Amino acid sequence: MNKQFVREGALMDITSYPAWTRELVEACSLSKQRVVEHELFKRMRDATLDAATARLFLIGVWPVIEQFPQYMAINLLKIRYGVHVGQEMARRYLIRNIRVEQNHADHWVAWAEASGVSLNELIEGNVPIASVSLSHWCWHTCERESLAVAMAATNYAIEGATGEWASLVCSRDDYENSFPVESRKKAMKWLRLHAHYDDEHPWEALEIIVTLLGLDPAPAEVEQLRRVICASYDYMRMTLDQSLLAGAPTRSGRPVLQAA
Ligand SMILES: [Fe+2]
Repeated sequence: MNKQFVREGALMDITSYPAWTRELVEACSLSKQRVVEHELFKRMRDATLDAATARLFLIGVWPVIEQFPQYMAINLLKIRYGVHVGQEMARRYLIRNIRVEQNHADHWVAWAEASGVSLNELIEGNVPIASVSLSHWCWHTCERESLAVAMAATNYAIEGATGEWASLVCSRDDYENSFPVESRKKAMKWLRLHAHYDDEHPWEALEIIVTLLGLDPAPAEVEQLRRVICASYDYMRMTLDQSLLAGAPTRSGRPVLQAA
């Protein structure tokens, strides 16, 4: 019988978790680094990202921003009260964090508008198909997979990496200063809210996942977690790569693809 995991150490200390969890996080770290240190974010931080690439990024990521509370709602439907302590934790986490997400889509829209991208353009989503595949992956995973697997793909992987890349972008003032003074605060609101290397949410999600799986899960279960976490990172990277590729100026100085 698989033993129950009860955390004793600090929430945000990887040594508080079983060996299989530590190995899992390590196995996914390279895929994560490729996202959080992506060239697109470095250029954004340095305020050297061209407008065409920024536009593709803002439109390409929008479906995930808009749908993120819906992914959590799909996962909430998997929970029954009183069945498992991991489900109790997930229930509280999901209900609380759906509420936290309430204004985040509005902040993304404000960021886009300050960058010259209208709400209509976000909704139309006229970007290369690879840019929006992350949202398809998230929806598919939340609809088809278990609570633990779906939370690993979304609340753990995507929220965790997002806190880190937003921190990278906010680590200097250059990007903020590239906006006119009057729109600066609104433009940066989404980034500021997500720029936390020390965000507890991904750790809380990890704790729930480990509680759901127990101290000694089957190797196949851990392997599935590894696959979905890395897939989320890889889909994020695909969006970023595609934005850079499609937004890159050709020799004539015009973008290869225009979003609108
Ligand atoms: Fe958010």
